[in-house]
Amino acid sequence: MSDEQHTSGIEALADEQRTFPPSEDFKKTALTVGTEMYDEAAQDDEAFWARQATELVSWSKPWDTVLDWQLPDAKWFVGGELNVSYNCIDRHVEAGKGDKVAFHWEGEPGDTRTITYAELLDEVSQFANVLKGLGVEQGDRVNIYMPMIPEAAVAMLACARIGAPHSVVFGGFSSQSLADRIDDAQAKVLITADGGYRRGEVFPLKPAADEACEASSSIEHVVVVKRGGNDVAWVDGRDHWYHELMEGASTECAPEPMDSEDLLFLLYTSGTTGTPKGIMHTTGGYITHTTFTHKYVFDLKPETDIFWCTADVGWITGHSYIVYGPLSNGCTQVMYEGVPNHPGNDRFWEIIEKYQVSIFYTAPTAIRTFMKWGAEEPAKHDLSSLRVLGTVGEPINPEAWIWYHENIGGGNCPIVDTWWQTETGGIMISPLPGATTTKPGSATFPLPGVTAKLVDDEANEVDNGGGYLTLTRPWPGMLRGIWGDPERFRDTYWSRFPDRYFAGDGAKLDDDGYLWLLGRVDDVMNVSGHRISTTEVESALVSHPAVAEAAVVGADDATTGQAVMAYVILRGGADVGVEDLRSHVASEIGAIAKPKAIFITPDLPKTRSGKIMRRLLRDVAEGRNIGDTTTLADSSIVDELQAKAAAAA
Ligand code: WTA
Repeated sequence: MSDEQHTSGIEALADEQRTFPPSEDFKKTALTVGTEMYDEAAQDDEAFWARQATELVSWSKPWDTVLDWQLPDAKWFVGGELNVSYNCIDRHVEAGKGDKVAFHWEGEPGDTRTITYAELLDEVSQFANVLKGLGVEQGDRVNIYMPMIPEAAVAMLACARIGAPHSVVFGGFSSQSLADRIDDAQAKVLITADGGYRRGEVFPLKPAADEACEASSSIEHVVVVKRGGNDVAWVDGRDHWYHELMEGASTECAPEPMDSEDLLFLLYTSGTTGTPKGIMHTTGGYITHTTFTHKYVFDLKPETDIFWCTADVGWITGHSYIVYGPLSNGCTQVMYEGVPNHPGNDRFWEIIEKYQVSIFYTAPTAIRTFMKWGAEEPAKHDLSSLRVLGTVGEPINPEAWIWYHENIGGGNCPIVDTWWQTETGGIMISPLPGATTTKPGSATFPLPGVTAKLVDDEANEVDNGGGYLTLTRPWPGMLRGIWGDPERFRDTYWSRFPDRYFAGDGAKLDDDGYLWLLGRVDDVMNVSGHRISTTEVESALVSHPAVAEAAVVGADDATTGQAVMAYVILRGGADVGVEDLRSHVASEIGAIAKPKAIFITPDLPKTRSGKIMRRLLRDVAEGRNIGDTTTLADSSIVDELQAKAAAAA
């Protein structure tokens, strides 16, 4: 493994010996209990995925070829045509399920909305017509910058209906981040809201949207949903209220038949350089992958289950497991606007009891926070409706897994620890709850149709022990590229190991063949399950006039997984407070990227060739004793930094 490998906590993971087989009771009704699907896919993965695409997805024109694979370019279901919004809505209404609830939406202040599939069809069709009326044509990009309100899903589905790829930007990102993403995608229309609710207050979005439009060049129209009721500035001719445009819009809008490989959306994610990558996802493969995984990983019974994924639609988890997978499967969901601790620390458990949630999908960082708040919070509520629990976004430590199992799952819900990425489109490594014996902290095995292998530095396959996680076969939900940058696509994912997709994660295979994901091995941090690039935070810091140089590392954090730690050299004579620098990062990128600590230092540890030694900085930030530093250009700086870190701890 690379010496950059983030290893702390790993030993604890690998020592975990407890096993949890699916209960006989669970197996009685489980969709899959044996190895049939694995066996089928191992025989012929293309035939396996073709069967899923036939059984789970409705096509207006059948495909000619299942897979066209010319590394690194994969095309799935070539020649086929379909519409994703039709798959997510119309077909359920046509099947007589129009009155079925699609979303139980819960606003943070306690207001609610219930939206049936028939209502969703009307609203999505209306908004698709609104977009057309604003001049949006097939292939045009539309930016979405919204709180967690139903209109966010409506906007995404309306784009899909008319074949306009959306690019959703998480509402917590700054105006500058939004502007960069608008510019990169050259989006014509921006859909936003006046504001949304968070921790009992309205957080305004429109001002950031306005700034982003100023700072970017392509937006012609801004559609604003009224949610927060906060005052907003208005640009006549450019800005339009959502409710006003919807008033006159027809509920008839035929779904556009799209080519299987047409772009469905862009979603920007952090890489190892400063500029975020516009990850491209297309139509037929993506919807097949998300529909399949949502059904089998969660053992979904769409007639009876109530599914709740706590992600924000601004992230891939929200795209795949709030909007596309669950709606394509025609199930009923809960969608919640706010934070887990408003008005009380039991808000999530109150929601589960209220809506009788049966499948709950959240992040390890949230679980660790719930642990801190105490088991008495979930104990206030009847959580017996739950039958499957899931986690995503980062490795889950066995303690958190066990706490989740006992205190949320009542000791009898299987836990699916799902590994995947923005780039993979859907879940790749996960237990199947009726078939897999789980081990706390292990994502277990690749799903049927997915081939994951570990390799060492020389690209030799590793069957036991640690290695780099690679994927050897294309999968339907795989990214089709980086918007506008085919070279970066090849370089980032396909060049480190020949003929393999390199995920950027380290992992370990134990004696029983279980996979243990160990975190990123590159310069990407994972803070509360959010991907943040060290380089991006460094660029934000050096864009401050007082900063000469910055080095950023992710240090282990008991709650957030990793925390952003920054070391900053100021320009000669400059004087600036650490708080100002933290706010500067928040305004450049977003609050999620705010460093937990910033150390102002006269120098940074560098190798003789001038490379900043990040591993050493991480050791310092994590309070580890560091070894031999004699290759450092100036080793006294390390002592100084250690003293500062110790003082801050
Ligand atoms: C990490 C989120 C361990 C991993 C869906 C990956 C995980 C990155 C897990 C992708 C898991 C995600 N166990 N690590 N179950 N799930 N990761 O693009 O490092 O926001 O590369 O997608 O999160 O983050 P992204």
